[in-house]
Amino acid sequence: MRPIDLLYAGKAKSVYRTDDPDVYIVKFRDDITAFDGEKKDTLGGKGRYNAEVSSFLFDYLEGHGIATHYIKTLEPATIAVRRLEMFPLEVIVRNIAAGSLVRSYPFCEGDLLDPPVIIIDYKSDALHDPMLNDDLIYALELATPEELDQIKAMALAINEVLQEYLDERDIILVDFKLEFGHHDGEIVVGDEISMDSMRLWDKETGASLDKDVYRFDKGDVLETYASVAERIFSPPRRGTLS
Ligand code: C5P
Repeated sequence: MRPIDLLYAGKAKSVYRTDDPDVYIVKFRDDITAFDGEKKDTLGGKGRYNAEVSSFLFDYLEGHGIATHYIKTLEPATIAVRRLEMFPLEVIVRNIAAGSLVRSYPFCEGDLLDPPVIIIDYKSDALHDPMLNDDLIYALELATPEELDQIKAMALAINEVLQEYLDERDIILVDFKLEFGHHDGEIVVGDEISMDSMRLWDKETGASLDKDVYRFDKGDVLETYASVAERIFSPPRRGTLS
């Protein structure tokens, strides 16, 4: 399976068509951006950590009955995925108040959100990803009520699986972003699940283990990504039952 031509270059990934119309190749680049693209850098090796974590978590979700676009890893930082018809939605699940939620609403950072809060943004660089609600989603015909119900149910199911997996590794899943698409009439998780798209805190120290390290100059981004990847690939920590 070989890339034929570049279909789309996003801020941190490039998507290629292949000789199989049902398969795309995604290359995770070493580029990192924040604040709507205002802050940008290239960090050698970053793409590989995100690709490996994403692939691992997609595999793990598949093992828990959740359909994803992941097929296989072709080479470091490069994966083969099923072609999806994407919903132009960014589905954010929040377990703890942080980031833009704290900036825009009267929450304090660290407030527990139980049940989790789902926020859905319209994926549009030109419009700066404005927040949607259900009525706007239907008015814009971005998804039907049945599709939206399923997307939300999948997002919550994914949250439970990931939250438990990360908790066993002393990592708190604060929030994360998902993207969904259609494949053969089925709703499937696409894009990535990585340190760029999750907000993770160390359970003991509260330290950021994700892109906030880059956003807010909290430390060595590559070192953080490498150590999180290692923790994610490791068995549960000592003392964890199950
Ligand atoms: O910035 P905010 O607090 O709204 O982000 C919530 C979560 O969604 C974070 O984990 C962030 O990394 C992720 N996110 C993303 N891509 C975006 C917006 C948010 O991965 N375009």
